[in-house]
Amino acid sequence: MAETPQADVIVLFGGAGDLARRMLLPSLYFLDSDGFLPEGFRLVATARSDMTRGAFLDMVRADLAARPEGLDETVWARFSARVEYVAADATSPEGVAALKPHLEGVRAPIFYLALSPSLYGRVCVALAAAGLASDESRIVLEKPIGRDLESSRVINVSVGAVFDEDRIFRIDHYLGKETVQNLIALRFANTLFEPLWNNLTVDHVQITVAETEGVGERWPYYDEYGALRDMLQNHMLQLLCLVAMEPPADMEPDSVRNEKVKVLRSLRRFTRADAQAASIRGQYTPGVVGGKTAKGYEEERGEPSDIDTFVALRADIDNWRWAGVPFFLRTGKRLPERRTQIAIQFKGVPHSIFGNAAKDDLTPNRLVIDLQPDEDIELLLMNKAPGITQGGIRLQSLPLSLSLLKAYQGPGARRRIAYERLLLDVIVGNSTLFVRRDEVEEAWRWVDGVADAWKEAGLTPKPYAAGSWGPAGAFALIERAGRAWYD
Ligand code: BG6
Repeated sequence: MAETPQADVIVLFGGAGDLARRMLLPSLYFLDSDGFLPEGFRLVATARSDMTRGAFLDMVRADLAARPEGLDETVWARFSARVEYVAADATSPEGVAALKPHLEGVRAPIFYLALSPSLYGRVCVALAAAGLASDESRIVLEKPIGRDLESSRVINVSVGAVFDEDRIFRIDHYLGKETVQNLIALRFANTLFEPLWNNLTVDHVQITVAETEGVGERWPYYDEYGALRDMLQNHMLQLLCLVAMEPPADMEPDSVRNEKVKVLRSLRRFTRADAQAASIRGQYTPGVVGGKTAKGYEEERGEPSDIDTFVALRADIDNWRWAGVPFFLRTGKRLPERRTQIAIQFKGVPHSIFGNAAKDDLTPNRLVIDLQPDEDIELLLMNKAPGITQGGIRLQSLPLSLSLLKAYQGPGARRRIAYERLLLDVIVGNSTLFVRRDEVEEAWRWVDGVADAWKEAGLTPKPYAAGSWGPAGAFALIERAGRAWYD
């Protein structure tokens, strides 16, 4: 990797918006608290709102004080001294020029676009026209990068006209999650699993990202995207890549990203027949989640919609390692619990030596990686059930269990916001955990294939009651393949 200087300023476009207030500003505050912000590092927040610096700081302070961690006055004094606020229209060169006085003498600024992706191109042009995009500046883009392959290319081309690819940091916040990175450690820092991690031993893989929250006020965005484009195209395919990729030579950005792209390229194209037999779309109707009544999506939106708030599908990876091993993916809003989980289901023993008494006891091993809300790894192993029985021993499946939270619960330990890791990586210029252009485009290529197949097959979302595990078809699709979801 070329030597990259530490950044000296972060310019936060959309600095007064929801993402900045909930995630980015608190992450920067915590980085400061842990001593990770470079000496003299500054934060220039910019938004259209005509606010004074004082009013902006009051807002940020109130947001931080309302968090469970509380506000540390010493850290706040240091952090707030770094913060500036500029009211500007980021989409015009004149607007962006208002930032100039704040960036004088700055060598390596970070431009973080917490804005609608439709504005990315215009902001980049404005930054170039105002002479603010130097060879050492970096740009951070939030998802969604487009709505399909074609629109993602338009964004990538317009950003790429101003910033070289190695200066573009496309965020998928799942890659900043501690447990997602732990997946890399689990696979490549242990000898135990890797020899088993293939189609000789693995029967299938399940990836579930279940949320209890509904779409709520976000429907104007969501109605354009649905679960397929909002969750599956990015977060879920990233998890799939980390599970399925070959060992990279090292942790350098391109080593890891080359391996992920190979997985995406090996995904079997979805056909109209797959749409009918191996996928299901759902949309929540009124129901009860966590003991509380919940509206249906159409009620939230105010009129009927044919967007999916639930997707389950079978993906196949056509390569030597995974040929014949289905990956079942499912994600949805308003499901009974919040759960992000990867389950690796191993094959059963080839022959049972245990006789009749234990004939129904044998359960194949399973590795369950819980990413959230709990951070646990469980390996289900067969044991002898205690006691004596007539006609031979009985067997029982029990978990070998590792709670990451308990293992690391030292004094002052707290769960980091995924953006802390990612922001620190942008500051030091390490793009391993960011998504490269070809990765985004390959993911869209496959997802476009799913969307096209749905269209050809006329697949519309099936209703499911809020608080259930999705439409009945979600169970049927996995049962057709002789497997079942682990609920
Ligand atoms: C976002 C999606 O990218 O991820 C949201 O746009 C979703 O719809 C969110 O709720 C889930 O993130 P997390 O970190 O809460 O699992």
